[in-house]
Amino acid sequence: MKAFMPAGRRRLAKSVVATVALGILLTGCGGTSATTPSSSAAAVDPASAEGAKGNISICGGKDASGIHKNTTAAFNKAHPGMTAKYTEIGSTTDEARTQAVQRLEGKSTECDIFMTDVIWTAEFASQGWLLDQTMLVEGIKDRLIPSTVKAVEYQDKYWATPFYTNAGLVYYLKDKVAKPKTWQQLYQEAAKAPGNGLVYQGKQYEGLTVNFLELLYSAGGEVLNDKGEVVVDNDTTRKVINFMADGIKNGSADKAVLTYNEDPTRLAYESGNFGYQRNWPHVYRLLNATKLAGKFDVAPLPSFDGSAKASGVLGGWNFSISAFSTNPAAAVAYINFATTPDWQKHVAMDNSQAPVNEAAYSAPEVLAKMPFAQQLLDSVKGAKPRPVSPVYPQISQAINKNVYSVLSGTATADEAVKKMAEEIETAKASF
Ligand code: GLC
Repeated sequence: MKAFMPAGRRRLAKSVVATVALGILLTGCGGTSATTPSSSAAAVDPASAEGAKGNISICGGKDASGIHKNTTAAFNKAHPGMTAKYTEIGSTTDEARTQAVQRLEGKSTECDIFMTDVIWTAEFASQGWLLDQTMLVEGIKDRLIPSTVKAVEYQDKYWATPFYTNAGLVYYLKDKVAKPKTWQQLYQEAAKAPGNGLVYQGKQYEGLTVNFLELLYSAGGEVLNDKGEVVVDNDTTRKVINFMADGIKNGSADKAVLTYNEDPTRLAYESGNFGYQRNWPHVYRLLNATKLAGKFDVAPLPSFDGSAKASGVLGGWNFSISAFSTNPAAAVAYINFATTPDWQKHVAMDNSQAPVNEAAYSAPEVLAKMPFAQQLLDSVKGAKPRPVSPVYPQISQAINKNVYSVLSGTATADEAVKKMAEEIETAKASF
């Protein structure tokens, strides 16, 4: 299956320019080059939010933490003339992307704002699907964590405004297992007794790419180097994949992880039958509402034996305004609200998500609700981005498909790594 259609989508970029003739609040419709949307897409003016009214439809993935429910409710209360509504369009990031792409390719006006994963910026911007938010981001970027700003940049412009960032954490049951320093220690401890095991996201989707890259980056490996060359076919990658596969064979990680995305991982852990869980910070609040409250602690991701330091993978979600939105002024008003320093504290306090506003992490009221806030900030700052490319989804698929084939016992690490490298080269060549 050819999941990517560059030529067709490039043509689409041209038509977007015509569609977004929403005069009053959009500026800067300049050039016509469809492959360089940065010179052709319409830009939103932050001042357009004044006097905005009407409905705002926000579309995104499953609202597992409740952050979108809370944010829309608070916004609606504070803005009597506007109504924001959140619609879930997928239970994983992969599903949410497919649904968003379908709507954007069909020029649907259903969603004014798409919640976009940090890995989608290059693809969505290069297709001309988004309004240029450079002016908006310029106005607030001094108070944002730099990596979150970088994640919305493509060809020298900003295509979204960061909402919350993300970094993986290890949850562990204090009475059963030790705080892990290295992945090797964690896996050993997890195999020691039934009930000590690890759960993580091992299903074949983006989450597995992340879980694998966390280990690979910590072991000193990478997928693309600074020049964008594919450098994944080496012993470090083989070692990491074998390490994960052995972990499933010897019972360190429950075999069921091969079917888990984030929510099933969390729910399995809530049974109390496991020692460790790799998941995102939003799980902290949800776990605190279960029988495991008080019994677990949160640790940064461990390092990989023989390597100096741990390295996470940067996650996070941004507000992108659809080029087909019929109410971009209200979308700007919503984004302004959700990124105020005050609301950013709520992101942490109410939903234990990681704010993009750096000052939120040291606010006393945040620390009271999220005692690991400083540690989370360190994890976010230490996290590495995933490869940046307009064909990232294909690159990621080449990663998770081949890692999965080894974890599920249908390929050797050697076969999988060779194929992974080849498929990443093919993906790169398709754009
Ligand atoms: C989280 C992260 C996102 C990542 C996804 C993988 O939602 O914020 O960046 O791609 O998990 O499942």
